[in-house]
Amino acid sequence: MLDKIKDLVDKVQQYKADSAENLEQFRLKFLSKKGEIGQLFDEFRTVPAEMKKQVGAEINKLKQLAQQKYDETLSALENTVSDDCKHDLTRPGEAFELGTRHPISLVKNEIVDIFNRIGFTVAEGPEVEDDWHVFSAMNFPIEHPARDMQDTFFVEKASSEPNPHDILLRTHTSSVQSRIMENAQPPIRMIFPGRVFRNEAISARAHCIFHQVEGLYVAENVSFADLKQTLLYFAKEMFGPDTKIRLRPSYFPFTEPSAEMDVSCSICGGKGCNICKGTGWLEILGCGMVDPNVLRASGIDPEVYSGFAFGMGVERIAMLKYQVRDLRLYFENDVRFLKQFKSAY
Ligand code: PHE
Repeated sequence: MLDKIKDLVDKVQQYKADSAENLEQFRLKFLSKKGEIGQLFDEFRTVPAEMKKQVGAEINKLKQLAQQKYDETLSALENTVSDDCKHDLTRPGEAFELGTRHPISLVKNEIVDIFNRIGFTVAEGPEVEDDWHVFSAMNFPIEHPARDMQDTFFVEKASSEPNPHDILLRTHTSSVQSRIMENAQPPIRMIFPGRVFRNEAISARAHCIFHQVEGLYVAENVSFADLKQTLLYFAKEMFGPDTKIRLRPSYFPFTEPSAEMDVSCSICGGKGCNICKGTGWLEILGCGMVDPNVLRASGIDPEVYSGFAFGMGVERIAMLKYQVRDLRLYFENDVRFLKQFKSAY
């Protein structure tokens, strides 16, 4: 009898119960009334009186051992996720953690949205461009300093002389004006958001990569008054209904006349602060009437059509909107910086 008990102790210890079914078999085999231990209690009656104490103690030890193994295995199984649980469709969902849009995208999307509302559609052009679309078709004289190696990243250059076939990274989104106009006849009412590249030393105020949104409207009888009203509408939508605009005469090869536009400083309301350097005004874009040479170079008759164009820097507007004065932050992709921007766009 004692041997039999010892044998059962070994069996209990070695039994591998690693699933609910195994554990139930274990319970039936050892712990149930008709199980092996139950039978020992039946046989106990036949044990001679002088052995009863010792055998009884051994049977009890065996029973405790089996019960302990059962309890431990049961709680271990309860703590692991069973297959049934994985497919429990009533469990609450786990939400994906959403990222935030980049502040430059937010501002770009808002600009696009404002112009969409007055009928401007969106187009894009290539970042790697030829000299023709960036400079030549845009009425840049051959000796213009903007074509110089100082400003432009060249990809393929035939010689040290400027050549319309040179391949380069576009220095402004005005190149999309020429691409669109060579393929479409007026009326054209479009904006072109995109990335531009200039060979500049990186600092808080300048970067070799930045973003622009270009606007182009070409139709019959487009006047400077149309340009001014369009830009006033944009400034009020972007910076608030009390915003004023001011146009200062300027020069661009591709517009005539040309102007730079300032908006009244939204920080101090025009009274003068350190953001607007005490002037009450902030420069945000360049604009003008499309030069007849540009229309002609792209196959549009300047005797029939006229147009206006403008180009704004997205980083510049983001700086004003979010008061982030170091351009480099927009390119470093530090999530602690990026996470702070929330907007409807
Ligand atoms: N392309 C000019 C720039 O990059 C901006 C501009 C666009 C000016 C359209 C006039 C008309 O500075």
